[in-house]
Amino acid sequence: MIDFTINKEGYRHNIEKARENNIVIPTIKQMQHPELIPDSIKEKLKATGLWDVDPVNLFRITWKNEPKEAGGLFRDVPNYIELPSALTGVKARIFAMVGKWFPTGCHKVGASFGCLAPRLVTGQFDATYHKAVWPSTGNYCRGGAFNSKLLSCDSIAILPAEMSRERFEWLSKIAGEVIATPGCESNVKEIFDKTWELRQRPEVMIFNQFEEMGNPLWHYNVTGYAMADVFESIKGENDRFAGACFTSGSAGTMSAGDYLKEQYPSLKLGVGEALQCPTILDNGFGGHRIEGIGDKHIPWIHNVKNTDMAIAIDDEDSQRLLRLFNTEAGKNYIVNTLGLDKDFVDTLSWLGISGIANILCCIKMAKYYELTEHDILGTVLTDSAVMYQSRIAELNEMYGDYSEQAAELDHNLHMLGLKTDSLIELRYTDRKRIHNLKYYTWVEQQGRTAEELNALWYDTEGTWDAVHKQAQQLDELIDQFNADVGILK
Ligand SMILES: Cc1ncc(COP(=O)(O)O)c(C=O)c1O
Repeated sequence: MIDFTINKEGYRHNIEKARENNIVIPTIKQMQHPELIPDSIKEKLKATGLWDVDPVNLFRITWKNEPKEAGGLFRDVPNYIELPSALTGVKARIFAMVGKWFPTGCHKVGASFGCLAPRLVTGQFDATYHKAVWPSTGNYCRGGAFNSKLLSCDSIAILPAEMSRERFEWLSKIAGEVIATPGCESNVKEIFDKTWELRQRPEVMIFNQFEEMGNPLWHYNVTGYAMADVFESIKGENDRFAGACFTSGSAGTMSAGDYLKEQYPSLKLGVGEALQCPTILDNGFGGHRIEGIGDKHIPWIHNVKNTDMAIAIDDEDSQRLLRLFNTEAGKNYIVNTLGLDKDFVDTLSWLGISGIANILCCIKMAKYYELTEHDILGTVLTDSAVMYQSRIAELNEMYGDYSEQAAELDHNLHMLGLKTDSLIELRYTDRKRIHNLKYYTWVEQQGRTAEELNALWYDTEGTWDAVHKQAQQLDELIDQFNADVGILK
């Protein structure tokens, strides 16, 4: 459960700071239903860019932003694309919600809001004293640093040195301090070690996305809710919401699946990881190239008992498809040979590397369960190819010029040719094995107790369900906070 104890002094400081900086905080309900956002805020948004460092952009932490670089308001249905069978090779319909239209170009800004908001509106985090530390493999600390700046808080971003250049360049402008830890994507232990070092500084407050229940609270209530909205808007007669798949970094997004399984009880929930780092599948380890996921441990906040399938994706598949979707020759192949619409092909740049892996997970799940055209699978595109232009340039340098023929080969080998290998449908005992792995990270290294760990397995009502329900209490605290700031008329 998230601690909502009020710290009166911190609360008073935060109110003053919010008043000075014109800050109004959105509620979870407004993120689900942006139509509830007051007109005065909407007027400001009409003159604000999507990535502008302006507190009003807190109201754009929703899947329902109009897909515009500036001045956008909201849509009834979340941003999504549907991938045609000609591309995926499976009959089942696959949709993916688009993270690109969040500020920072990634939905992780929501997870970081979910972690920061409870401590800010209770005063536990004192914006006049504390620095918010955002340990992550990239996007979460981008989101955290961005939100901190909007909320006028100091921040420290921690991420592995080998993450893409785009992430570092942007962070250096937004975060108070950027710390690069040794290694790549899967070197999260090194990030955790750094946070223990930083904890010695009294002004430092750590927001560890792998552990903070604000992360699942946000995804369950906002992402899950939005995915149900998409399904309801696209379903035909006799269609069913058959499955949802998410590659896991912190496993925050997986909580959207918890919501969906409650709404659509026959839905299967799959978790994806890189084949080169098959921790969930095989207790394995290793470096890989699907940025944002797969960190050689099971996140504290992964509700493993509710996960139906583990799917490993070869990072070479996602790299090759990144090139296919983001080169002229690749796009020409999709238009000329597959006969797909040019406007659709342009949206393929909305898929980042992990987004591509998410689609591949859906394809594998569709093949495993032999899904039909009446089955719909959902996933998310966490970020977009904008974040990986340097990676695409590297691939072009490595492999030489691309051609439509090479594109056809990539499509056949790396998408149509996918099999149901490196995948398990999780039995009770498989789930327990994966859950048990948490012990080594969280109890042995990170100060959790075995009782707490057991509660995550045996006491669903008192842990996961209870956190999901805390959104309502959080909204009440946010409303009170905004009322005390008093700038919203
Ligand atoms: C690009 C990318 N994809 C996927 C993920 C995984 O999402 P989650 O942390 O919700 O599991 C992340 C997390 O940071 C990410 O940055």
